[in-house]
Amino acid sequence: MSQAYRFSVAPMLDCTDRHFRVLMRQISQASLLYTEMVVAQALHHARRDPDSASRSARLERLIGFDPIEHPLALQLGGDEPSLLAEAAELAAERGYDEVNLNVGCPSEKVQQGRFGACLMADPERVAACVEAMGRASGLPVTVKHRIGIDALDSYADLLRFVDIVASGGARRFAVHARKAWLDGLDPKQNRTIPPLRYDLVHRLKQERPALTIELNGGLDSVDDCLSQLQHVDGVMVGRAAYAHPLRWAAVDRLIHGRTCPTVPKASTVVRGLVPHARQWQQQGGRLWAMARHLVHLVEGVPGARHWRAQLTREAGARSAGPEVLERAALQLEERGL
Ligand SMILES: Cc1cc2nc3c(=O)[nH]c(=O)nc-3n(C[C@H](O)[C@H](O)[C@H](O)COP(=O)(O)O)c2cc1C
Repeated sequence: MSQAYRFSVAPMLDCTDRHFRVLMRQISQASLLYTEMVVAQALHHARRDPDSASRSARLERLIGFDPIEHPLALQLGGDEPSLLAEAAELAAERGYDEVNLNVGCPSEKVQQGRFGACLMADPERVAACVEAMGRASGLPVTVKHRIGIDALDSYADLLRFVDIVASGGARRFAVHARKAWLDGLDPKQNRTIPPLRYDLVHRLKQERPALTIELNGGLDSVDDCLSQLQHVDGVMVGRAAYAHPLRWAAVDRLIHGRTCPTVPKASTVVRGLVPHARQWQQQGGRLWAMARHLVHLVEGVPGARHWRAQLTREAGARSAGPEVLERAALQLEERGL
């Protein structure tokens, strides 16, 4: 998969669904995209649905994607090697490029399932999961984690975690450069309150040069990313990609070193979504599922609010189809956007 990981869009529940990924693909062809976290157990149940039509509908909803989304990583949540192996095998069958294990999510629900960030306290189990996922799928297995949790937050703890997990076969680590307070902070607070410690991620790369290290957390611009890329192999951007998709229009040129004849604009992005909207409509999907991600596309220009309001009104109608996007693209083109 070359070096798509040099810039990736972070997995985000309710955000990085297939529609947002197709949108980001209009903006960057070369970057690695991640799915939302999919719980391995949910795949296990879907796979055992005795009714074949309902089985394929459930699997499609959980892990379906459009081929233009490649390179694409499926992020899995779980702590049971056999379930994760089954899920990773499914990922390989479906054509995902790699699988990623979530060891960074601090939500209470995830902790009750004993996975997510709390797994940082059990690196041996994470290594066993990674090993099982790799063996079952033949895909590269990567891990997304924090720099620490609760009192397990020293650099030595981080290094121990990474070393043990690497022994299970993980070669790439996406490190959210913030510890998580599992006991006391909610997930939103855990993305803002603990301070960012980029220095720890840099040190990890220095001391483990053979591993591929991606840095995540608080990156707000292409310049931020370029400066981090002096220290690590890749950067992963979450909220700033969702809230400002076009801010990343120069990523292919500036980060992936591609020669790009044209820079994506809002109108080309919207127009590029039309074939996907057509397919989605044929599958019985509603346009709003896609259009809801477009509200952040046009910002900081006169008339942006009006464009968004019109799109929201028209795309929200039950009967709305791709023609709404065609009209929205035309309006942007007329204004040179
Ligand atoms: C709405 C939302 C949902 C998220 N869902 C996931 C998830 O499913 N899996 C995961 O590993 N991280 C998840 N995260 C964390 C992000 O992947 C990322 O690590 C975090 O937002 C920090 O990066 P940023 O500062 O660039 O946003 C989520 C974050 C947000 C804001």
